Amino acid sequence: MGRFYLTTAIDYANGAPHLGHAYEKVLADVIARHRRMRGDQVHFLTGLDEHGQKVEQTARRAGIEPRAHCDAIAGLFRGMLGLLDISNDDYIRTTEPRHVRVVQDALQRLFDAGLVYRAEYTGFYSVRQEQFLLEKDRAPDGSWPSLLGEVVQLTEANYFFRLSQFQAWLVGHLETHPDFVYPRFRQRQVLEFLREPVNDLCISRPKSRLSWGIELPFDRDYVTYVWFDALTNYYSAVADKGLWPADLHVIGKDILVPPHAVYWPCMLKALGLEPPRRLLVHGWWTMGGAKVSKTQAPAAAAGEPAPRPLDALALARDHGADPLRYFLIREMTLGQDSEFTLELFRQRYRTDLGNDLGNLLNRLLNMAGRYAAGKLPAPAADEAPERELRALWSSTAAKYLALSSDLQLKESLEELWVFIRALNAYVDTRAPWKLGKSADPADRSRLDSCLAHVGEGLRLVATCLTPVMPTVSTRLLADLGLPPATRLDEGLAWSSVGVGRALAEKDILFPPLDPPATPAS
Ligand code: ME8
Ligand code: MG
Repeated sequence: MGRFYLTTAIDYANGAPHLGHAYEKVLADVIARHRRMRGDQVHFLTGLDEHGQKVEQTARRAGIEPRAHCDAIAGLFRGMLGLLDISNDDYIRTTEPRHVRVVQDALQRLFDAGLVYRAEYTGFYSVRQEQFLLEKDRAPDGSWPSLLGEVVQLTEANYFFRLSQFQAWLVGHLETHPDFVYPRFRQRQVLEFLREPVNDLCISRPKSRLSWGIELPFDRDYVTYVWFDALTNYYSAVADKGLWPADLHVIGKDILVPPHAVYWPCMLKALGLEPPRRLLVHGWWTMGGAKVSKTQAPAAAAGEPAPRPLDALALARDHGADPLRYFLIREMTLGQDSEFTLELFRQRYRTDLGNDLGNLLNRLLNMAGRYAAGKLPAPAADEAPERELRALWSSTAAKYLALSSDLQLKESLEELWVFIRALNAYVDTRAPWKLGKSADPADRSRLDSCLAHVGEGLRLVATCLTPVMPTVSTRLLADLGLPPATRLDEGLAWSSVGVGRALAEKDILFPPLDPPATPAS
């Protein structure tokens, strides 16, 4: 039995959770649940990134202390985790003493080893934006855009991490670990980035400019700057648990290069720690073509009133977590971007969930009530349709296990649905409502087999769906008189565990959706 330590990005505490955050947590949760059902000892971490200028500014604008602001935001994000049925084992906030201690210890060690040094930097500084400017910030005529306010030349001492010293090691590591970044095309982007020499990394801000951060242990006039603080969460949360290295960091494509693929492995190397085993990099959910983000609402088409931003999380509130979880995993090709629309969600809900799966269960419950006193009969006749169905299952199970273990979650669901549709087609072929009217004992035995095969088929499907739709799957199994599924591998052999169980009379797993709201005229 292996151990498996996985993490998500820690969300930035400068706004409320949105669909992008929800997706990443669901994705990691499906992997965590999957690994648990494969027998791994899973540790699943997520959390909140609380320091930095934007958080400080957002809090001040709201007229509250940064800490109080972060407490409120933490409440929102933890509420989202509950709403989405996320099974994380720990939640880290970067303001917690356990994190601050580890960050300061790491900084001190790097400083003592000469891997963090002090240097002066002179540049153009926007007083209004409170940041140094780059040449690319200039207007085409060479002037500074007026929104930057007053721009002054400033010399500032800061602390730098000798990132450049680890570049050659990192390139070598990537070359010997071609699966370090998933999907693979993203690993090539990292190597592309590393073709140019990397600069040492500024890891401090003077407190005169930023006070909301972790103080440098060797210079009390400074705090450490965002990424050094944030990335260390993956280690600080497990430093005393002996769980390092992480097996998987689940992150979005915007924070791969350079933070997770360059800074983080090099920081770890400098500290004498192993790099994480793998990074899983997902794409963005878009709405109206634009990345779903804290600030943006979907753009209105010309001439239309601006639509209200869709609160995707309301879908979990209205329909339970599982349909949204299913949709997010089924719809997104891992690594690519995906457009979210309410219509797509409703379509998946109606067809995949309502028609294919929900109706199949009720067909079974209904027929078992009518023809078998509400119990699942033992299979009797074993003819071509039964043999074909079981053969399809054995190839489906093999593909499902291979795909889902290889992080191809969308594709694993597609395979399952091929089987679910085959189950429906099998019922149509067998036509139990005709068999039930026949006086021929051979037809009675066909009828029993039909019910037994649909029952077992649904048990297997619910077992495979448990990581993606834990509540619905458990309810479906209970309707079959069975306990929740705990194991994937052992649970996937065609069996007769359901025979003789009392079935539920009826259960609507996916109640019909209301018609789309029409705008009030
Ligand atoms: O980046 N679609 O925080 P964050 C999919 N605090 N994923 C999205 C998304 C979208 N539209 N928008 C955001 C941070 N994400 C840092 C991370 S980790 C040590 C520090 C993903 O709140 C994004 O890619 O901006 C990231 O992985 C996560 O949500 C948090 O984003
Ligand atoms: Mg972001």
